[in-house]
Amino acid sequence: MMEPSDKALVPFVSVDHMMQLIHHIGVDAMLRGLTDYIEADFRRWELFDKTPRVASHSKEGVIELMPTSDGEVYGFKYVNGHPKNWKDGRQTVTAFGLLADVATGYPVLLSEMTVLTAIRTAAMSALAAKHLAPQGARTMAMIGNGAQAEFQARAFRAICGVDQVRLYDIDRAATEKVARNLAGQGLSLVSCSWPEDAIEGAEILTTCTADKQYSTILTDNMVGAGVHINAVGGDCPGKTELHRDILMRSEIYVEYPPQTRVEGEIQQLAPDYPVTELWRVIAGQAAGRANNRQITLFDSVGFAVEDFSALRFVRDRLTHEHCDMLDLLADPDDPRDLYGMLERAKG
Ligand SMILES: NC(=O)c1ccc[n+]([C@@H]2O[C@H](COP(=O)([O-])OP(=O)(O)OC[C@H]3O[C@@H](n4cnc5c(N)ncnc54)[C@H](O)[C@@H]3O)[C@@H](O)[C@H]2O)c1
Repeated sequence: MMEPSDKALVPFVSVDHMMQLIHHIGVDAMLRGLTDYIEADFRRWELFDKTPRVASHSKEGVIELMPTSDGEVYGFKYVNGHPKNWKDGRQTVTAFGLLADVATGYPVLLSEMTVLTAIRTAAMSALAAKHLAPQGARTMAMIGNGAQAEFQARAFRAICGVDQVRLYDIDRAATEKVARNLAGQGLSLVSCSWPEDAIEGAEILTTCTADKQYSTILTDNMVGAGVHINAVGGDCPGKTELHRDILMRSEIYVEYPPQTRVEGEIQQLAPDYPVTELWRVIAGQAAGRANNRQITLFDSVGFAVEDFSALRFVRDRLTHEHCDMLDLLADPDDPRDLYGMLERAKG
């Protein structure tokens, strides 16, 4: 057996190593760190290669590839969305991703991204709310208490100062799970039996449900003046969470319009309906919330630049104890003699 050379090896972050890394950094510090990285990348938005993600749809779900590059580093994520997966013990969303050096094309990091996606999605939501939610908002309704829910709650506490979360899910066990997981972590939690109870007194409404259809998690009469809506679950053609009338009353902020117009809540609107790109608000080129009566809506679908930021953060914090070196790249002694390397490996 031949020992791989340094050039053959790529750092690989497994799920277990990712969890150890997150605990080593601290969940709140990781959420804040990722928020800062995404914010920094949104400030230099214009230099990224951008394309709507490449989606392969089926009856049960979707598989997507999400590439981008800042000219020096290239990244992509593989991610799926299969709302019925839980029935046989699988996640709705799983992911892994890669960073590569643009100059050589050589991968520099391969990482699990199921846990990382939950953190980056929560960080992205909190970043949007930091710029759009009403000043001093402290109460959030969390509708949909699945895999993403605790991450969302913790990000809104760490980044926006939310200290009360009102939980609702059609599945009571999901709400009980969140209440159990977040107990004793500085959040006041209220478990609600109806979505109407969950939104009571909340300045921020987060919807994070999974269903492959046009759902109406929030109806128009549930949304009062001045709230910020963080709509996370509607992220595929034919999969939305908000009644169209809510959109007509809201100031809508999106990640990348060519993708969001196909996948987000705004797929319910005309293709030229005015929306604001969030990066413009972050870069000081567009207005955020104008007054305390306005309804702001972050129509989140998840964009490649956020995953790039998350992978960049992991690469910058990674030490040898939180990765394995994977023999991923063939490295013959003579770069032109790939076949010779194969022959020498015989027997
Ligand atoms: N925008 C993004 O960047 C982004 C990132 C990750 C996931 N997502 C989406 O977020 C959603 C949630 O992801 P997850 O991993 O938490 O899924 P999950 O399957 O773990 O949880 C979904 C929860 O929604 C609940 N639910 C379904 N219909 C409901 C309804 N009508 N009212 C209240 N609750 C309802 C389910 O009971 C479940 O507990 C998915 O649709 C996923 O595609 C979006």
